[in-house]
Amino acid sequence: MPTPSNAASRAADVDLRALLRPDLDNLEEYVPVKPLHVLADEIGVPVDRIVKLDANENPYGPHPAVREAAARAAFHIYPDPGQARLRAAIARYAGVDPSQVVAGSGADDIIDVLIRLVAPPAVVIPAPTFGMYRFLAKIMRAQPIEVARRPNFDLDVVAIRQAAAQHEARIVFLTHPNNPTGNPLNRAELEALLDLPALIVVDEAYIEFGGDTVVPLIARHENLVVLRTFSKWAGLAGLRVGYSISSPALAQHMMALKQPYNVNVAGEAAALAALEHRAETAKNLAALVAERDRMARLVAALGWLEPYPSAANFVLFAVRGRPARAVAEALRRRGVLIRYYDRPDLQNCIRISAGRPADTDALLNALQELQP
Ligand SMILES: Cc1ncc(COP(=O)(O)O)c(C=O)c1O
Repeated sequence: MPTPSNAASRAADVDLRALLRPDLDNLEEYVPVKPLHVLADEIGVPVDRIVKLDANENPYGPHPAVREAAARAAFHIYPDPGQARLRAAIARYAGVDPSQVVAGSGADDIIDVLIRLVAPPAVVIPAPTFGMYRFLAKIMRAQPIEVARRPNFDLDVVAIRQAAAQHEARIVFLTHPNNPTGNPLNRAELEALLDLPALIVVDEAYIEFGGDTVVPLIARHENLVVLRTFSKWAGLAGLRVGYSISSPALAQHMMALKQPYNVNVAGEAAALAALEHRAETAKNLAALVAERDRMARLVAALGWLEPYPSAANFVLFAVRGRPARAVAEALRRRGVLIRYYDRPDLQNCIRISAGRPADTDALLNALQELQP
């Protein structure tokens, strides 16, 4: 019998690197937003004084009945792997059959399920867009082929078709409205891509804030998959519930491949209650859309931040005459969190989530201190 210290010294001889996938050595990590308490400590501001406009969350949070439903969930029982109640409720909400719905631990989980199901040599990603497609593709050894969007962030359909054919991409990720640019997917662009021999994934994470859903097209296109989430409209980002709508055949394959317990009991109960109380939540969504537009107008009036039109719960601004990063850092020091971008496909921009009127006022006060 080896003593514990023997075992420990032998374990130290194992070459860990030889066990791990070498292609993941240089994986650029997905850069998530930092947890609020970490930021609060860094900035030296209490958590409840931070104005959090960096992750497109819903500052109103869920309806009180949703909190109660989550708290009442039977935590000691495994969730339903078949997701019967949740799929039925989502199907009623989306106007489809329950056999077309698959729920996941956030839309992120569904993206992962799709990439694992197809295991494509490559995926096409019109950029700039949400970083998770690229991150999860790389983990599955699918080459992320980023195709530049047009200057107004519409799709370059010809380039996408070419890239898909050249790299044998079996998934194309489209985002409607797109994050971080805010523009909706143009219906003609989508229709020009649906005959590709690929899954066409339309990510409608922000559809409750604007844009027309493409769900009705699924009946005619078996390769079309729509992603949705409870993170944004329902204020459940922390509970991680998202879903897809697709043909029943694709949904069946996804159900077979997903982790059986991918939606936890609290998330399931909260999502069901959020759907039940969605009429009461609608006023918060309307308030966020109105606040998005008020915020864009007031920020633009400062004269050095130029908004792009947005159909989502955030606005992208081009920053003039100073580095976007410096703006984000100066706001951060004042307790206001936003995102900045400075890379070849998105130069010197910031993205600000829509908040409550008091959040906009705090943002404006902080920006005014930075006036040239
Ligand atoms: C376009 C897009 N899709 C999906 C997600 C993630 O959704 P979830 O929280 O359901 O994983 C986000 C979150 O920011 C997003 O911007």
